[in-house]
Amino acid sequence: MESERARPVEEHMIDMTNESWAGPSFADRALYAHLTEHIATERDLLEEYREIAERTQSRAFRYLVNLLIEDEIRHHQIFSELAESLETTALMKAREPVIPFMDFAQDDPAAVIAATKRLLHHENEDARELKRLRRELRSMHDESLNGLLVELMQRDTQKHLAILRFVKKHARR
Ligand SMILES: [Fe+2]
Ligand SMILES: [Fe+2]
Repeated sequence: MESERARPVEEHMIDMTNESWAGPSFADRALYAHLTEHIATERDLLEEYREIAERTQSRAFRYLVNLLIEDEIRHHQIFSELAESLETTALMKAREPVIPFMDFAQDDPAAVIAATKRLLHHENEDARELKRLRRELRSMHDESLNGLLVELMQRDTQKHLAILRFVKKHARR
């Protein structure tokens, strides 16, 4: 599974941009082209980040660029999965795409809602805690990266809340 994911997108894909192909619709082909284009741009960007991290004499700069690299690697993976899933749904309708359909109803809605509520509660507590921590750091006027890192975790927490709200909203149906 892991090696399947690591392979570059182009290698194991049918030409979704080929207009003579009877399968994919115009919209599918256009979206697929955008996705693969974006994958290429992000790959260049990732290379640039890597070079910068290697060259810089600043440990702080390297530390922060490494955080960006982690995100960009994840973006690359998600974009590749988006392209692969689009290909699967457009051409091989019998196969399950890598990115699953919204099948929350496979689970008991009450159980899903209860779990998301519990997790939302923890994430909200986390958000309050981070806010307190950030205020504390600000009053210290410190010269470290700590304030920025706490701010980034606040943004992550917003992302976590968005994911959980999405699940909770769609579990009801
Ligand atoms: Fe990105
Ligand atoms: Fe979280």
